[in-house]
Amino acid sequence: MVLPVYIYGHPVLRAPNRDVTPDFPNLAQTIQNMKDTMYATDGIGIAAPQVGINARIVYIDVDQLSKDMPELKDVRLTLINPEITVDETGKTTTREEGCLSIPGIHENVDRYEKIHIEYLDENFQPHQADIEGFLARVIQHECDHLQQTLFVDRISPIRKQLVRARLANMAKGKVNCDYRVVTAPRHPKPKK
Ligand code: NI
Repeated sequence: MVLPVYIYGHPVLRAPNRDVTPDFPNLAQTIQNMKDTMYATDGIGIAAPQVGINARIVYIDVDQLSKDMPELKDVRLTLINPEITVDETGKTTTREEGCLSIPGIHENVDRYEKIHIEYLDENFQPHQADIEGFLARVIQHECDHLQQTLFVDRISPIRKQLVRARLANMAKGKVNCDYRVVTAPRHPKPKK
């Protein structure tokens, strides 16, 4: 089932995300809904808070980019309770990113070139891997969502200034995109 995407400014994107345990209600359906939503919106990754669920679940499918990056062929990952470690002395690269929760804005973000990741798959089997390049970037972006961080938090101050008005409008519910969204609730002005 395709779910609406929660948009920049909505508090669910800034709320803590809980670890997933085997008794998590409707886990398989939740993951399926995340996939359906991601494919319907042409995303390459999605984190549970983006569909309004504060749990540590990510789904990634970068196969569609394998024409340009053959190493991404058939790469589809469900990450439950992912933990990333980075070598902070390690190399970073810059590349443009976007986000389903921030439609229309694309900005350069620095990311670590190489990461180590530990996670559970949808059957709660543990995995670990050393990952580099574009997939490492996508994983860092999605795992940021699980820590209430959005890519616009990581752009340069000057670029942030340039997109500030558009972000403020988004947070007020002015969003231009062709998928269903949930914007931040309107707070009535305090009386007085
Ligand atoms: Ni995102």
